[in-house]
Amino acid sequence: MAGSVSRRDFARLFAVGGSAALFADPVWARQNAPAPAFSPTISGTGEAYWKSVRAQFVMPPELGVLNAANLCPASRPVLEALKRESDSVDRDPSAQNRSRLNGEKENLRKTLAAFLRVTPEEIVITRNTSEANNMVSSGLDLKPGDEVIVFHDNHPSNLTAWNEKAKRFGFSVVEIPQINPHPGMEYYVNAYRKSITSKTKLLSFTHLTSSVGDLFPAKELCAVAREYGVMSLVDGAQSFGLLDVNLAEIGPDFYSGSAHKWPCGARECGVLYINTRAQKNIWPSIYSAYPGAVGISRTFESFGQRDEATMIAFREALEFQTKVGRAAIEKRSRELANQAVAGLSKLPDVKVWTSPNPSLNAAVVSFLPGTLNSQRLGQALYEKDRIGTAGRGGQDRGGLRASPHFYNTPEEIDRLVSAVGRYLKSGV
Ligand SMILES: Cc1ncc(COP(=O)(O)O)c(C=O)c1O
Repeated sequence: MAGSVSRRDFARLFAVGGSAALFADPVWARQNAPAPAFSPTISGTGEAYWKSVRAQFVMPPELGVLNAANLCPASRPVLEALKRESDSVDRDPSAQNRSRLNGEKENLRKTLAAFLRVTPEEIVITRNTSEANNMVSSGLDLKPGDEVIVFHDNHPSNLTAWNEKAKRFGFSVVEIPQINPHPGMEYYVNAYRKSITSKTKLLSFTHLTSSVGDLFPAKELCAVAREYGVMSLVDGAQSFGLLDVNLAEIGPDFYSGSAHKWPCGARECGVLYINTRAQKNIWPSIYSAYPGAVGISRTFESFGQRDEATMIAFREALEFQTKVGRAAIEKRSRELANQAVAGLSKLPDVKVWTSPNPSLNAAVVSFLPGTLNSQRLGQALYEKDRIGTAGRGGQDRGGLRASPHFYNTPEEIDRLVSAVGRYLKSGV
């Protein structure tokens, strides 16, 4: 919990002097005065604590962006690292200067392993979740007669990808239908269990759906997979950096995630966890130079030249979250989301798609704003109320999505709810 975070560490991390390079940038300097150093006198996880955390982001204070499920802002320490290390390579692209960064990929691997509570030998550093998911669907030896079970309400990288590769390799895909509202954890455990046959080779699901924030029983589903000798792929795009994920406890064969979502890291970096027991089952999709140094990365991660600055920034992001307090981050984000669920549910004509049960949802809230045009509402919220949401077009539980993270505030949620209420009366 953040209450147990070392305030001295936090203060040291955010010492204003260390941020000098960042604030030298004229755009950032114009928009954001340097944040006051984190005050070690703030205790607990009250609003004063969260305010000091928010000050580590360069978003203007009046802008409440509730769009973490799509993209999160990087914090000042992350931006600072990115700028410092990118500048260094561009100022001096010599082999000598670059070799200084040789160990950074392995440093990130170690930090990722500690963050997910697994070993560095099981970590592959990818570009994002899409790439990680596709490395699994392309890398397994699946053939005619084999079956893969996937959840219908999943991102294309873990649904379209399986269906397209099934056409090429001849295996079959069985889809578990999505039920709204969330029918309960037991329902999905049983649905997967009943769908497993002697042909099943892998089951996959998204840990938390990006559509409406349905939380999946990851540990139980991975246990079912192991019980039947089936592999498991957990799409962690929406849980990595939000939930206090412990892969040692969940026990999947594969888990994927992106730095630029809930971890608030640099863009275009991600992770694929490959459990030691599953490593013999998967082929690399790319053969090139510059492999990783340990475990599966030695054969699986020859991805050619990478951007060390991004990797250093990603590590900073994970360390930042650890210092803020991962359990506290999860609690804060989920409380803000449930504040939105409660407020929006009280508005006449609003249909909240997200489960009102706090144990079945997590930080992603979707709702249909009565008969209001969602696109126009989203635009008005952004322009007039300074609240950022995401539009959810299409037939499937359409409307708007609000996904708050630990840098958001209860006031921003109140602003969202009261503005939607106002537009329901006035129109947009
Ligand atoms: C559940 C899920 N999986 C995968 C992805 C793909 O993430 P990325 O675009 O970072 O590869 C997303 C993106 O929103 C997602 O929500």
